[in-house]
Formats: sequence, C-alpha cells, structure tokens
Amino acid sequence: MDKRLLIIDDNQDIIEVLQVLLGDLFIKVESALNLEEAEKKLQENIFSLIILDINLNERNGAEVIKYLLSNPENQNNACPVLILSGIINNQFIEKHSKRFAGIIIKPFEEKNLIETVQNILGGNSSSEDLPVPDCKLPFTVPMLQEKVAKVLDQVKKNNNLKKLFSTMKVDRTSDDYIMNHVGLLINVATGIATKLEWNTEKTLEKFVYAAYLHDMALIERPDLARIHATAIELELMKDKMGINDYNLVFEHTNLAAKKIEDIPEIPPDVSAMVRQHHELPKENGYPARLPYGKITPLSSVFIVAHDFVDYIVSNPKWSVKDYIAGTKNKFRGPHFSKCISALQELG
Ligand SMILES: [Fe+2]
Ligand SMILES: [Fe+2]
Repeated sequence: MDKRLLIIDDNQDIIEVLQVLLGDLFIKVESALNLEEAEKKLQENIFSLIILDINLNERNGAEVIKYLLSNPENQNNACPVLILSGIINNQFIEKHSKRFAGIIIKPFEEKNLIETVQNILGGNSSSEDLPVPDCKLPFTVPMLQEKVAKVLDQVKKNNNLKKLFSTMKVDRTSDDYIMNHVGLLINVATGIATKLEWNTEKTLEKFVYAAYLHDMALIERPDLARIHATAIELELMKDKMGINDYNLVFEHTNLAAKKIEDIPEIPPDVSAMVRQHHELPKENGYPARLPYGKITPLSSVFIVAHDFVDYIVSNPKWSVKDYIAGTKNKFRGPHFSKCISALQELG
C-alpha cells in the first residue's frame, strides 16, 4: 500500500474526519486549506487521489482543476479527483465532469465515501472491477426468435400509426416495468423508423430484438430499469443508491451488449443499440458519454423512443406535443431532430 491522498478543503474539521475515515487506505494523507497550499503540494508530491471541495474560502476549487489542466507536465495531471461539496455548481460539473472520478455531496454517508474511494483506488469503477452480475437472456434463443417473428408480423400490420398512438395501452399499475415498457418501446421505435422510411423487415426486426434485450441485466431490478438520467444526474444519485446499484445501472448496457455479441442468431447492430441506449447527444449520457457523431442512427431512434416511453409511463396525461416541448434542448443533431420530427408527425 503506497497510496497517497491529498485533501483540499477549507474546513479543518472535515479534513480531520476524512483523515480518520480514510487513513487506513493510504500510506500518507496530506491536506491543503487553500489553493496556494494545494498547488505547492501538487508540485512536491505524487498523489493517488485528490479529494476536492469546490467551494473554498472566497476562491473556487475549480482552480485546482484548471491548474492541473494548464500544467500538463505536472506529475498529478492524471490523478483521479473526487469532488466533495455541500453546494454543487452545475455549470462547473458540466464543464469539468470528465475530469472527476466521483462526486459526493456533503453531508455524506461514511460508508459510501469509503466504498467510493476504495472503488476509485481499485480502478475507477470500470467494469473490470465489478463483480459481474448475472446477465441472462429472458428467453431461450429459439423462443426469442419466435417471439420476435410474431411481434414483427404485428408491427408490419401497424399501418395506421396515429391510431396506434391514440389507443396505446399503458399499464402503470404493473410492477413489471421491464416487460411493460418493452411493448411500448417496440411500437414507438418501429413507428418512428417507419415514419423515417427505415422500415425494411430487417431493420424493424433489430428494434424488436433491442427492445426485448436492452435491460436484461436489470431483469431482477425493475426499480433500477426505471432510471432515466444523464451521467451527472446518475453520479449525483450514487450516494443514495449505494455503489453496487450504481455500478449495475452504469454497466447494464455493456453487460447486455456483450451477451448479445455472443449470440450469432441476433442481427448485427442490435448490440450497438443496446450499448448506447442511455447515451445522449451532448456527451452527457452513460456509460461512454459518446459525442453525437458516435451514436448510430438506429441508436438515435431507439434512444428517443426509450425516452418518450419513459415519459408516457410516468405521465398519465401524456401528449406528444408536451413531450416535444419539454425535450427541445435534449435531443440536438440531425439524426435526433429527424426522430423528433417523425414523432411529432406520429402524434
Ligand atoms: Fe429500458
Ligand atoms: Fe436501460
């Protein structure tokens, strides 16, 4: 154990609490009460983790990040930074979030802080370090193929999409969120694709597979499957959820996509849709924070359909018009705006 921690906080009491809680995880714990001290320590030592309060006395802790970014030769330039703050400045987070290994809001739970730090030290909460949860197909492959074929026959008959939308049944009382939203997702995704004239049988089939399989890693946890968040919102929920649930939500797209890639009967493109179903066009989705250009056109349809279905399930008084008004800024970029226009025409 040769790890060193730097705590940057203007509150000596917090520093002392952190020293007691985290002391066993590090060979040395150092602290800085202000930016000048912090910069000095960063020049003198190599740290394994920086815990940073972003609201330092009359100064902004973001300057530590700026200092590291503007001094690329600094030996701590790649050091993970865990933000610990009572007031989260959203603008700051948006701007620098890629630089953070985690965000914890004060007052924090001791157990969660220790788990988060252990996780960062163990390798930045990547999938390699997770206990790999079971991710099983909800059906056998032949059963899945049979179900997809049946649904596809039905989808091809949905020629009056407006009518389909107006009669769409939503079971909000059911505990089975996953299977309930799968049915809606098939209708909405194939509806948008048809409007965009991406409606060859092969393409529609891909949406049906993706709808059935995208949340299969959460099959036992419909409560987690309901989470629709940006990467930052999810990060802010970590404290409350606990690290294991957070990791499961964060990784469920990759777990399902990997499983799909092992099944040759499932058409190509399905795994990309599943892997990307929580990405968002402004690099603020998860797990990869993909930029707009890396999200495939089919994934864009699936992402918009999935978001819209979540809106329908949570709003008994849903309307396409209200949904579009509320998501104007969320889905930017040519593919996404095409999907929104298609949805508008459907509604
Ligand atoms: Fe889902
Ligand atoms: Fe999901």
